[in-house]
Amino acid sequence: MIQSQSIAVETTLQKKAKPPQDGLGFGIHFTDHMFILDYSVEQEWHNPRIVPYQPIVLDPAAKVFHYGQTIFEGLKAYKTADGRIRLFRPRDNFARMNRSNDRMSVPELDIDTAITALERLIEVDADWVPTEPGTSLYIRPYVFATQATLGVAPSENYQFIIIMSPVGAYYPEGMNPVKIYVESDYVRAMVGGVGEAKTAGNYAAALKSQQIAKEQGYTQVLWLDGAEHKYIEEVGSMNVFFKIGGKVITPALNGSILAGITRNSVLQLLKHWGISVEERRLSIDEIYEAAEQGLLEEAFGTGTAAVISPIGEVNWGGQKLVIGEGRTGELTNKLYDTLTGIQYGTVEDPFGWTR
Ligand code: COI
Repeated sequence: MIQSQSIAVETTLQKKAKPPQDGLGFGIHFTDHMFILDYSVEQEWHNPRIVPYQPIVLDPAAKVFHYGQTIFEGLKAYKTADGRIRLFRPRDNFARMNRSNDRMSVPELDIDTAITALERLIEVDADWVPTEPGTSLYIRPYVFATQATLGVAPSENYQFIIIMSPVGAYYPEGMNPVKIYVESDYVRAMVGGVGEAKTAGNYAAALKSQQIAKEQGYTQVLWLDGAEHKYIEEVGSMNVFFKIGGKVITPALNGSILAGITRNSVLQLLKHWGISVEERRLSIDEIYEAAEQGLLEEAFGTGTAAVISPIGEVNWGGQKLVIGEGRTGELTNKLYDTLTGIQYGTVEDPFGWTR
């Protein structure tokens, strides 16, 4: 494990102007510093350092460009009313990072080292954590293959980098319901593939459908399973939940769905409230049938970037389904308020999620 004192810190001579907090958007502005850690087969993870935010120089043959050996994470830091900075479930993010690493043949990184690095970086850039309601500091850790050889084999060299960005809402809709387009032709992932890993290629493969959906006025794509195009998997950059006849249902983690930290937090909250939840296979047919029977009450997506995002309309092959009269549901609002309350420290955290 790398200790905080062994991280070399080079502070910037030119601090950037902070962007106004009412128009932060998502992942547009970056803080003054970044963390870097190198990996080589001989030295393993070494040379931890915080440096001014700057471009990275890579050999044109670096394996990441050719074979996509790279993974990332996303988590957030929040400023509380008394000026403290809280991280939400960072251990779970770095544990997931190691699962992604394992799937993509990237060497594991000690979780305590990653947390120490992140906390030191946040200390250096503490004045970048925004304070306005609905804002936070989005943290993007990532690992990529740097070995400059074109043989198809796991790289012998990597870099682990953390960058940070003050953000507002991920979707311009904010807490207004988003419209979702059900993708019936392209698939995001197959069981046995890399759908569960947070790796760049999953997102690149999704862009085409996202573009098509956007052209038709939809914010995100709902992915169906790769084999039968029948069962719901996830929505763009979120996991997805439906409230049907008083029960909350979300697709079970089957190996091709991303194991969202917000997804898990929502499941724990719902169980804590005594609401009946089911993690199981859920077909798109079942959603339309439930709607026909008047049982489909609410739908929402969950994600670190998006938090809780109400879904107001689904379009499957031209059949449009308006959910909850296109308004944000009561449970969706309660989940949003409670989760963000825990994150910002205004609601008690009975789960020990924050540090
Ligand atoms: C996150 O919610 O952190 C994600 O990874 C989604 C991102 C791709 C915008």
